[in-house]
Amino acid sequence: MERLDVPVVSYNARTAAFMAGEGFALAADGVYRDAAGRSYAAVLTGKPAPGSAVKTWGCQMNEADSEALLGQLRQMGYGVSDGDDRADIILLNTCAVRGTAAEHALGEVGRLRRLKTERPDVLLGVCGCLTQMPETVAYLRQHAPHVDLVFGTNNLDDLPSLLRRAYRDEAQTVDVWAQSPATVEDLPAARAAGVRAWVNVIYGCDKYCTYCIVPTTRGRERSRRPGDVVAEVRRLAAAGYREVTLLGQNVNSYGHDLGAGYDFADLLADVAQVDGIRWIRYTTSHPRDFTPRMVEVVAAHPQICEHFHLPVQSGSDRVLRWMNRGYTRAQYLDLVHHVRRLVPGASITTDIIVGFPRETEDDFRATLDLVAEVGFDNAFTFQYSPRAGTPAARWEDPVPPEVKHQRLERLNAVQYAESRRHNEALVGTAAEVLVEGPSRKDPAVFTARTRTNRLVLVPAVEGAGGRFGRARLTAAQTWTLHGEIEALDEETPGAPRAG
Ligand code: SAH
Ligand code: SF4
Ligand code: F3S
Repeated sequence: MERLDVPVVSYNARTAAFMAGEGFALAADGVYRDAAGRSYAAVLTGKPAPGSAVKTWGCQMNEADSEALLGQLRQMGYGVSDGDDRADIILLNTCAVRGTAAEHALGEVGRLRRLKTERPDVLLGVCGCLTQMPETVAYLRQHAPHVDLVFGTNNLDDLPSLLRRAYRDEAQTVDVWAQSPATVEDLPAARAAGVRAWVNVIYGCDKYCTYCIVPTTRGRERSRRPGDVVAEVRRLAAAGYREVTLLGQNVNSYGHDLGAGYDFADLLADVAQVDGIRWIRYTTSHPRDFTPRMVEVVAAHPQICEHFHLPVQSGSDRVLRWMNRGYTRAQYLDLVHHVRRLVPGASITTDIIVGFPRETEDDFRATLDLVAEVGFDNAFTFQYSPRAGTPAARWEDPVPPEVKHQRLERLNAVQYAESRRHNEALVGTAAEVLVEGPSRKDPAVFTARTRTNRLVLVPAVEGAGGRFGRARLTAAQTWTLHGEIEALDEETPGAPRAG
């Protein structure tokens, strides 16, 4: 594997140097302030206590990026606003993976035009995967002059200097990089409340599946150094976090670019040594790089949750070949059997695309057949969406959209019944859960997660948020279980707040 030799830089050191040049230094409250005590954000905006809002679309990597954006904003002295109406800066962190994701984000850009007319001093920024596509930048330049700042996934750690330019320049500031010039360590992250934390381990993707825009939007694969990852997990444990999810577009490629013979199985084993971390998750896994040794490492460490998210995409060998997935149906099934043998009770979930160009009824049946054979606990199913610049988008596609749509519905009917069956089989049993806290819809109901990442709704229990316990599962639906908390662990509720 070719070595990239991307330099590793410290966010803190680099930002401190930049801020010193501007006349700011990090004060005791963790905010960059000038000699008169004014925060960097106050000087940029001319307001004593400006607020910020970050909206996020897309996958967990985008969630993690948004935490890094918010973390940087906090260090500059921006507060958190509960809505656009009060925010002085709004950042839209976009996703490009399917047409619908792109439309949602651009719809929001359009909607904010009015806010910008009413409050011209609001700074509106668009970033994330969508802005890595040149056509988005062209569109925003031409049709969305109310957007002040456009940047991408490869320079989101440069927010202080991007903002300085955006506030000073009259015209739209656009700065998007095709590749990341450096792996940036110690980014401040304003993590969501709770005891669970995201930890990026590898950025980018080199797999080039023929339908996928992610290699364009996220650049080449770059692994963080093992020591940096483990040190971050240690800091998280010390700060009260109890669950970490190791993130990458393809975590199983981890380490290949470092050229040290250290891989994701090694990293998982090392993270499992960190005291205080009770559950370890990781996403996403590419079946091609999922080694038997990885399954063994999961089996050997009780902290690593027995949940395998293994996106299969299709059950047809020729479609898998066209997709450039690099495995066959038989190899995928071997992996599933290996997981079932070594990790009893494991949950196996997947992603499936229907309606890939030239997918025939027989190809589709092969997918249905695979779904029946594996018996996935859950599946994220998508209708193929052509993405500009990807090979598959240029291929002729005789399959009519209504046929694709029907295939999606047929697949969903099979999978939903299967998901429900898996959940129903758990009714009457007890499961170890991590209680999250009040559900979005009803404060009298708390959400909790099982080790296999199933959502359990339980009657609210005072003080249970952020604690592990045991839930008796009483009823099942397709995507959720209902239950009651039987016991809570004596552990001190997490002391969330790091970075
Ligand atoms: N890195 C992950 C996937 C990231 S994208 C992996 O390889 O598994 C998440 C899912 O979106 C993919 O698994 C795929 O099922 C779906 N997806 C990606 N590109 C798509 C497209 N052009 N149309 C429809 N679904 C797509
Ligand atoms: Fe996209 Fe394939 Fe990379 Fe996943 S592995 S992000 S589907 S190119
Ligand atoms: Fe979307 Fe980018 Fe994630 S395209 S799925 S936010 S990597």
